[in-house]
Amino acid sequence: MDSILITGNGPLKGTTHASGAKNAALPILASSLLAEGTHTFRNVPALADVSTMLKVLTTMGAKSERLSGKKSSICEIEVGKKVTPEAPYELVKTMRASVLVLGPLVARWGRARVSMPGGCAIGARPIDQHLKGLAKLGAEIELHEGYVEARAKRLKGGTVAFDLITVTGTENVMMAASLAKGRTIIENAAREPEVEELARVLNKMGARISGAGTDVITIDGVEGLKPVDHAIIADRIEAGTLLCAAAITGGDVLVQHAVPEHLEAVLHKLREIGCKVTVEHDGIRLVGPARVSPADIKTREHPGFPTDMQAQLMAVLATASGTSVITENIFENRFMHVAELRRLGADITAEGNTAVVRGQAKLSGAPVMATDLRASASLVLAGLKAEGKTLVGRVYHLDRGYERLEKKLKALGANIRRVKG
Ligand code: EPU
Repeated sequence: MDSILITGNGPLKGTTHASGAKNAALPILASSLLAEGTHTFRNVPALADVSTMLKVLTTMGAKSERLSGKKSSICEIEVGKKVTPEAPYELVKTMRASVLVLGPLVARWGRARVSMPGGCAIGARPIDQHLKGLAKLGAEIELHEGYVEARAKRLKGGTVAFDLITVTGTENVMMAASLAKGRTIIENAAREPEVEELARVLNKMGARISGAGTDVITIDGVEGLKPVDHAIIADRIEAGTLLCAAAITGGDVLVQHAVPEHLEAVLHKLREIGCKVTVEHDGIRLVGPARVSPADIKTREHPGFPTDMQAQLMAVLATASGTSVITENIFENRFMHVAELRRLGADITAEGNTAVVRGQAKLSGAPVMATDLRASASLVLAGLKAEGKTLVGRVYHLDRGYERLEKKLKALGANIRRVKG
């Protein structure tokens, strides 16, 4: 198992870039099941989760090929006349987002058999809203031997009012409704940029979707969709993480391709803690202060502060000149990084969904263990600031969602390397 070894060595400086967005790529790849033919996706990040989604699709009979250039990563997916509409437990257990094939399968192929995802490190994460939404469109749903089995001759439009805001739930229903008969209205829809991006792709395929990016999405079902050629938006969470690397080290970094409109709540907080954030021609530049100020953070659905940036900001605030309070409102168990950050000298106490972070002038290196994707990013950030050596274990969590993070940080001057193990 690989680890990452970091020796804290002061401010990061230079220009880097955000790769394609993981959480946009996953539903977009799944959406290829909606149309027969060859799809071309560009700016597809080279991540373990993307490989898993491609495996899900090829297991069903689709063909995929990655044509990686120096600056772009292209992925072609060919969907033939037949698929085996099943996502097995072995794949779904490694990545919950595999459940994104459910909507496309039942809409296009009339049948889906997808393993129920279990809980995961950050919470129980049920999919009841996905199932409720598909049932509202007329899918017959049964749970059998750990699998969701969904069937429908043709889905019919309807009003889906989610009980809570769910990103992949909104995406699943939006994909399914694209081929349903008649109009579907999704109320209380997720407004994340990745939902908007999926709607953009579906509309390119011939779908008729309006309102994505707001909390009411209207989808007029069409008879068929065609393959698409699309370049995926930049990853706002990776961009935010790279900006935090500048913030925690008091550095000066330009993150190219980062979209300011996707990161408003994060940029607002970074400014509040004393960073100078400017929007440049093709990206966002952050100049960090010698020591950041404290700030309180409450995670919310977009456009609120993203839960996927909570762990990284916690690492930054662990070095602030005062006390911050962080409240996690999306997932019930997303403080696993607290105990590991404490090993680096952070003074953090967590109770329920609230963490009190008392900023320390110094952190000191130690071996730590990644517990989930964003937790590992937060440990890497803390390692950049800590004196001495920090060894972050279980790096496979990081590889699920960051494309060569250590290479990007090294290019900015960090003393960081991967240790093969
Ligand atoms: N929820 C339910 N029932 C449902 C669906 C969700 O109770 O049917 C609950 C969840 O348990 C959670 C909350 O609703 O407490 C929000 O979950 P949501 O469904 O929005 O999360 P998701 O769609 O499974 C996506 C991202 C996550 C990100 C969340 C929140 C993808 C592939 N994943 O997950 O990304 O944290 O939205 O923004 O888009 C990550 O990249 O590290 C990551 C975890």
